[in-house]
Amino acid sequence: MAFQQHKLGAAAIGGMLGLSMTITLMFPSFDFRSAESTWVGLDKSLSNGRVIGFSYEDPTVTGANKPITVILDKDPKTGEKIDPPMRAYVYEPGVPFAPAVRHPANTGPTVSQLSLSVGKMGEATEAQGAVFAINRGEVNGKDWDYIENLTALKGWTPADTLRAATDENTRYVGKGKTVYITEGCWWCHTLLPEQTQDWQIFGAPPMLGDFNGEMPTAFGSDRKAPDILHVASRNSSREWMDMHFFNPRLVQPNSIMPRFDYLWGETDAHGNKIDFDKWRTEYKEYRAGTRIYPPEIPEYAGNSEVRALVDWILTSLK
Ligand code: HEC
Repeated sequence: MAFQQHKLGAAAIGGMLGLSMTITLMFPSFDFRSAESTWVGLDKSLSNGRVIGFSYEDPTVTGANKPITVILDKDPKTGEKIDPPMRAYVYEPGVPFAPAVRHPANTGPTVSQLSLSVGKMGEATEAQGAVFAINRGEVNGKDWDYIENLTALKGWTPADTLRAATDENTRYVGKGKTVYITEGCWWCHTLLPEQTQDWQIFGAPPMLGDFNGEMPTAFGSDRKAPDILHVASRNSSREWMDMHFFNPRLVQPNSIMPRFDYLWGETDAHGNKIDFDKWRTEYKEYRAGTRIYPPEIPEYAGNSEVRALVDWILTSLK
């Protein structure tokens, strides 16, 4: 009798294994390359570059060898006005291309086809560098966002494009996301509004095509602080971000967020050494009530980590 039961159990397990194998092999599975990239997905891929994390190009994860996002209000070649200003992604010679450029199939069948045919994306080479942008085209009566290689289409070189943008219209988005990863902001923050009651406060959840090939997505899991996927659409003030990063208690007296004043580096925008000790002494006086105003936040240098971080927040998180 006992033997019979074992036989039955073995047959049942065999049957289940067989069924699961049949499902795996015979039924069509979901291929993530069938998801077409949205504008958000292409923008993230182009501004973040190849990967954010350990790689040959950025072994110490400092945000080196990343593309640079620029806002252009004039043509880098002809000098003609561009109205409204457009966003472009500059890959200087040697900077590794984004997943969307390296593996076009990942952006979806229609988007990749448009990028390769109309956008001439396949003609770009890492050795020469390239300038990319996102354009909109129609296929079968529907609009699609796709990648354009402006170096091939318009003869824009990375150097000319950076010069035309000037520092004021340059955003170190890819480097900024690297800072978000290395500083561990994701221990507290998420980039993924989850349930319906979340959406009312933090905005719409991302769509499938928003992160084709993004690495890492940095969704976060154990949320201790607001979701910041759309933070720039509720707070786009650079001044507020500066104060909040230098010392969150300046704007939120009981904040548990650590201060990130060290992301300012050693010197300020004018090359003067930042005196953190003096700042903290004055800040303590302010907290104790013996000083009316908090001390001023140092103006950050153009190549500081905090500049890149705020660039990423205000450009990418809309
Ligand atoms: C210990 C948890 C913690 C860490 C780590 C942390 N934050 Fe925060 N953050 C908070 C909290 C809590 C708030 C809510 C406002 C406040 O209390 O300051 C906040 C607020 C913010 C806001 C404003 C959100 C809004 O809804 O307006 C931004 C932007 C932000 N953090 C970015 C960052 C970045 C970037 C990093 C990493 C450099 C970081 N935070 C690290 C806890 C944290």
